[in-house]
Amino acid sequence: MSTEPGNTQQPAGLAATGFGRRRALLAAGAVLAAGIGAAADELTNGDRASSRSTASNALPPAPAIPFHGARQAGAMFSQQPATQLISFDLPQTSAATDRETLRKVLGALTRVLSTAASETPPDPRLQGAGTTRLTSLVGVGPALAARLGLNVPAELADLPPFHGDRLDPARSNGDLLIQLCASDRWTATVVAELAGTAAHAAGAVPRWTQSGLLPHTAPDTTPRNLFGFKDGTANPDDAAAEQWVWGPPGPHHNGTVLVYRRIRMDVAGFAALPKERQNLVIGRQADNGVPLTGTAEHDDPDIYAKNPDGSYVIPATAHVRLTSPRLDGGARMLRRSYSYDDGPDDRGLLFCAFMRDPAAFTRVQNRLATRDALTPFLEHRASAVVYVLPGATQGGTLGEKLWE
Ligand code: HEM
Repeated sequence: MSTEPGNTQQPAGLAATGFGRRRALLAAGAVLAAGIGAAADELTNGDRASSRSTASNALPPAPAIPFHGARQAGAMFSQQPATQLISFDLPQTSAATDRETLRKVLGALTRVLSTAASETPPDPRLQGAGTTRLTSLVGVGPALAARLGLNVPAELADLPPFHGDRLDPARSNGDLLIQLCASDRWTATVVAELAGTAAHAAGAVPRWTQSGLLPHTAPDTTPRNLFGFKDGTANPDDAAAEQWVWGPPGPHHNGTVLVYRRIRMDVAGFAALPKERQNLVIGRQADNGVPLTGTAEHDDPDIYAKNPDGSYVIPATAHVRLTSPRLDGGARMLRRSYSYDDGPDDRGLLFCAFMRDPAAFTRVQNRLATRDALTPFLEHRASAVVYVLPGATQGGTLGEKLWE
């Protein structure tokens, strides 16, 4: 496990599916037996939401997840059951004034988010059982970066329009994005209110907000999306993430780019397909996530395998074929998506993927938009791209390298 000074960080692969391992440890009694050391490290990284509700009497309170560290915790630690995205614009005056406003907003967010994530958040609404287990990330959008001449990766750019897009501008883009992740809706809501108030007082103007959710999952399992499929299985391991997700050595090394898409899903329409057909649409089995060419969930889908009649086992229009890194020079993205529920006619996926270069998303989405068998069941309704800043060290402020 790779660790950084200041925050104990989790490998990318584990981060995507990280509900499970720590719960297995808890179930085995390893925490009580070991008390400190390796097991305590595991707890520092992992999700304790269910342990708090099912076994809280037997366990010490879960430690806070450190806010400070080389990389922002919201892109690193296990996904949690609740997320909240909050987008802001900055008023456009002079570049010098706007840069000062951005400094103030980033300073205010650093204070609020680090305090809310600490062992002892002062707000009584966050003083329930144990710590908040809050993780967060803050990113800046391409338009703001260009306007203020910020030091962001050269690859940071808005996405092009895609075939079939039905984007709502009022729910898209923005100069600044915060993503909060927490073990419960209450924490996400309270911290969103605190962060929103602080950012607004420092000069930012609210643009849109979006809540998301994930199911609690059993140990070592991948959460499912609203179509019932496991989502987040094939994510890069640490080495691949260093190559494809995090920036190259230099000022952007501990930063990454988040591509966000709010995708409405026709849940009833997909559910009406026969099970076999659903499996062919995805290229994996709904029950267990196993690729149609494999025997275990984490087997690599073999997109070249053929049936005796010469047809592909994973069909030409299957989602895992069209998203396969094999079609894309091995390029990977780290997917940490959430579901959303904004009423019976508006449910779907908050697709959240981290990558060094958002052109990787563009290449994949161009294939999906015209050929993916999933596409008839989807509508892309909102979109945003931000540069996720490197983390703040103890005593430091988010975004310090933006001015270099
Ligand atoms: C609501 C829309 C979507 C749904 C329901 C969905 C669902 C899935 C499922 C079930 C898998 C297989 C399990 C896994 O590896 O996680 C998967 C894999 C994947 N999806 Fe999606 N997905 C959606 C949108 C997208 C979009 C928009 C992109 C990127 C443009 C994308 C990129 C990928 C990638 C890269 C993989 C892994 C491929 C591999 O390495 O095998 N997905 N998706």
